[in-house]
Amino acid sequence: MAKIIGVLGAGQMGSGIAQVLAQKGFAVVLFDVAEAQLQKGMKGIAKNLARQVEKGVLAEDEVTKLLGRITTTRQFDDLASCGIAIEAATENEQIKYDIFKKLDALLGSEAILASNTSSIPITRLGAVTLRPDKVIGMHFMNPVPVMKLVEVIRGMATSDDTFAEISTLVATLDKEMALSADYPAFIVNRILMPMINEAIYALYEGVATAEDIDKGMKLGTNQPMGPLTLADFIGLDTCLAIMEVIYQGFKDSKYRPCPLLVKMVEAGYYGRKSGRGFYTYN
Ligand code: CAA
Repeated sequence: MAKIIGVLGAGQMGSGIAQVLAQKGFAVVLFDVAEAQLQKGMKGIAKNLARQVEKGVLAEDEVTKLLGRITTTRQFDDLASCGIAIEAATENEQIKYDIFKKLDALLGSEAILASNTSSIPITRLGAVTLRPDKVIGMHFMNPVPVMKLVEVIRGMATSDDTFAEISTLVATLDKEMALSADYPAFIVNRILMPMINEAIYALYEGVATAEDIDKGMKLGTNQPMGPLTLADFIGLDTCLAIMEVIYQGFKDSKYRPCPLLVKMVEAGYYGRKSGRGFYTYN
């Protein structure tokens, strides 16, 4: 198992991934193009760890040790010694292609290149490298430190060895794996996003208020959050982008994004992160 793991992107997902890796003893190189994002990511990790200390599940002196395992950098070349790189950059196909090409040129020939993408085909990411057998999907769920699941996606060329090593890593992180073939939005988002989209249609068509839609699903089907609250939590721009991937991928009208979702994203109502979505936030 690789001792040094690179994480690309210090946003909510990347910093969460860096945290769980460091908690299991891995040395992490956390890369981002923006210094502010690196600082924000590390602040988030420190806050999560402080909460664990408060709850008495983590010793105070462990925090410094744990944070010391994460090196932040804006220099791409600092990723050179990583045995595994997990890309968690913006969900933009071109950005991901560029990252995979650069990682392929920089990392040792045995290194595995994983992507936390929620919707971009792993086979396509593999095809821009000279090591498609070592390219795999590792889709963590948000919030990463809490959610048990990692969806693992095998591209068309992903080898058994790569799959075995990533399966071991998932188990080492104390997470559970669900294995998906490389089809639009894999397992979780293929099922979750149409549900959220349908909840938005119910609101759009005046079936019920946002509060009652959420209450119905939360208390009626034992979900931790109602679908509209969850959409705000994930980000409406992300929900729309994933619905578009499913819609374009299958060319089936049942996946068309609800016009209200499109309109809200046009308005900049992205949910929690922008302060306004189906609900308002401070
Ligand atoms: N980071 C780290 N830990 C967090 C956290 C965060 N952002 N938010 C909450 N937690 C922890 C809390 O510390 C708490 O820990 P303990 O149980 O050890 O005390 C625990 O999670 C529960 O938190 P709260 O009591 O504050 O609140 P809650 O009970 O409402 O739980 C929640 C919050 C875990 C987010 C829960 O509401 C939940 O599970 N919601 C659904 C989340 C979900 O569906 N995620 C998947 C989204 S889809 C996705 O990620 C895929 C994609 O590609 C879009």
